[in-house]
Amino acid sequence: MNKDILIKFNNVTFAYTSVDEEEENVTTPVLTDFSLEIPKGQFIAILGHNGSGKSTAAKMMNALLVPQSGSVEVDGIPTDDESRIIDIRRKVGMVFQNPDNQLVATIVEDDVAFGPENLGVPPEEIRKRVDNALKAVGMYEFKDREPHKLSGGQKQRVAIAGIIAMQTDCIVMDEPTAMLDPRGRKEVMDTIKMLCDELGITVVLITHYMDEAVKADRVVVMNDGKICLDGEPRDVFSNVELIKSLGLDVPQATELAYRLNKAGFSVNYNVLNEEECADALFSFLEVK
Ligand SMILES: Nc1ncnc2c1ncn2[C@@H]1O[C@H](COP(=O)(O)OP(=O)(O)OP(=O)(O)O)[C@@H](O)[C@H]1O
Ligand SMILES: [Mg+2]
Repeated sequence: MNKDILIKFNNVTFAYTSVDEEEENVTTPVLTDFSLEIPKGQFIAILGHNGSGKSTAAKMMNALLVPQSGSVEVDGIPTDDESRIIDIRRKVGMVFQNPDNQLVATIVEDDVAFGPENLGVPPEEIRKRVDNALKAVGMYEFKDREPHKLSGGQKQRVAIAGIIAMQTDCIVMDEPTAMLDPRGRKEVMDTIKMLCDELGITVVLITHYMDEAVKADRVVVMNDGKICLDGEPRDVFSNVELIKSLGLDVPQATELAYRLNKAGFSVNYNVLNEEECADALFSFLEVK
């Protein structure tokens, strides 16, 4: 296997089976023949409407779920090899949506220590890792605080510090900002950029916010368990009509330029943020 690929889905199929009110088994197919390669060091955003299979795919990245057919490999290790689960969890950490469900200890620094303790890291080394991880997410001065007294954004940064302290190669985040206010979202997004740019960690970010997705190196759009767009944010978001037809939004700046275009003003709508939108408007006015 290519040594630069960290996570590889090979033709994965997965369905949930549950029991309905009449006690009949109901099968919900989620992923069908799903293939995806995530290179080391990449910041990848995964988009898709509710129920498109994003969380299911995320849970396969650190063996919380395993495929029913096909395979998932993490750094070459098949995730269905139960003897290698610890190795996989050392490589890929998860951060979930609800900050209150992830913090387990009564003091911030104990919480960050929890992951490395479970991996059997020696106590002296844990102390160093905890301090460094809390500094990296800007929460060091909160190390003696009680997690439940922190803001949502602060809690998510502590959860991220817990993964940094495990020194995983990759952090998979399933809508980590969904329950946060704008300030908390910005704190967490700044932390995510730091993870990629400064620590070189591979980041998989599942989000419903398009302005978060534009910050990634690569955007993958899922629909009904399949990938329907995959590329750099600019290329993906140039497919405005297709994205809308999938029940998703495009970034607000793209939307504005696109609507002006539709209204007969030939403004370039291949723009991702306010600055590019303003430039496109100026160019349009200059040409006129
Ligand atoms: N434990 C489960 N048992 C049965 N069905 C499930 C289970 N978890 C998810 N599903 C179903 O599988 C499908 C895919 O769910 P998944 O959570 O992967 O989607 P998602 O893209 O993360 O959606 P959202 O944007 O709402 O988080 C949905 O139809 C969902 O209802
Ligand atoms: Mg989900």
